[in-house]
Amino acid sequence: MVKVDLGGCSSFVKESVYKDYVGKALAAFDVLESEKGAGNDFLGWKTLPIDIPESLVAEFEAIKADWKARGVNLAVVIGIGGSYLGARCAIEALSHQFVRLEGEIRVVFAGNNLSEDYLAELMDLVEQSNAACVVISKSGTTTEPAVAFRIVKEYLEKKYGKKEASERTVAITDAKKGALKTLATQEGYRTFVVPDNVGGRYSVLTPVGLLPIVLAGFDVRAMLKGAADERAEVLKKGEKNAAVEYAAMRNLLYSELGKKVEVLVNYNPKFQYLGEWWKQLYGESEGKDQKGIFPASVNNTTDLHSVGQFIQEGDRVMFETVVKAEKAQRSVVIGRDEQNLDQLNYLAGQHVEHCNAMAALGTKLAHIDGGVPQLEVAVEKIDEYNLGAIFYFFEFACGISAYLLGVNPFNQPGVEAYKKNMFALLRKPGYEAQTEEILKRI
Ligand code: PA5
Repeated sequence: MVKVDLGGCSSFVKESVYKDYVGKALAAFDVLESEKGAGNDFLGWKTLPIDIPESLVAEFEAIKADWKARGVNLAVVIGIGGSYLGARCAIEALSHQFVRLEGEIRVVFAGNNLSEDYLAELMDLVEQSNAACVVISKSGTTTEPAVAFRIVKEYLEKKYGKKEASERTVAITDAKKGALKTLATQEGYRTFVVPDNVGGRYSVLTPVGLLPIVLAGFDVRAMLKGAADERAEVLKKGEKNAAVEYAAMRNLLYSELGKKVEVLVNYNPKFQYLGEWWKQLYGESEGKDQKGIFPASVNNTTDLHSVGQFIQEGDRVMFETVVKAEKAQRSVVIGRDEQNLDQLNYLAGQHVEHCNAMAALGTKLAHIDGGVPQLEVAVEKIDEYNLGAIFYFFEFACGISAYLLGVNPFNQPGVEAYKKNMFALLRKPGYEAQTEEILKRI
């Protein structure tokens, strides 16, 4: 289960003010639970952990078995934003960081940028591999994945022929609308639906996240169980509810102390993409109506030798949320060296994780001294079960937090602004008037 520790905020915050924010968070909890708040047609994520049927997981496994029987060793997962970050976060956290699992399908991601170099290098890998593709877009109209898919599709069709290419392609999109839906129907792709009432950044526990995670060799049943257990926890309304505590404290720090930036901190590179997933979840959910906490992330101890300087002594705009896995999965002990030229014998016999924990504690104390409040969000270890719990915890807390802030957690109107300009500049049919306008500005 996810545990929240607010001890690193106590020197900054009066108990009575915190209690006031807990009251506000409990009211926001009621808005989320009554399903009467803004964006309430996008609450399908709340019951996903108990809604996903076993038969769906079995379908994902059947696709994997089918692809493996065809010799597939690479799955290109195409999507952007909520259509890839959850899967990437889970796969990066669960995978060996250096050695590829023998016999497993390697999952790589595309369609999350428009870099020509990225796509060209990805196609180098595709050409060396036996590839299949999962293309994900809820709207079915997003440019970045559409461009990547056109290129991968063309390659698969040339290499394997149209029929085999179509059997190596899965589309995950809207049930009825969008260009991807039309394309998938016409080409006869296996298709899964992103439910209408689940927004992209809340979709990791739909086929959007689950299929790529299954393809990469991980246990989504355990992930769903972890999410379901966490759901049962955060539904217990009360002051000690971890989601309520987290939402209350971060809003207090923002509104009362002017802490406009929240830095999600990890001490394990496996959590790097958790930071990316979390930034999208909170940034798109809260950053609107000229309000919101700017979500940033750092990877420690790496970044203690980089932006750590800013966190310690720069503009006092931030607080930190440290995401911790309490137990390391593996054991590496520092040995004794007779000569001790590196002067490390004082650490002989210690686990490396002990040094990591002391670095984290030392940093916490230093940052508190430097005016940076610190929250902690902890799970026991990094595995499928606990990742499911983390996903659900942060989603639920985000709903509470955004309602407390007074914004709709489930829309993202601001994302359209760049698209309009890009389409006008690319001279997309239908954007002629905007093209005229924009050309005058540049
Ligand atoms: O959270 C969201 O809704 C967005 O980040 C989307 O996931 C992202 O824009 C991709 O959209 P789509 O899946 O429609 O291609």
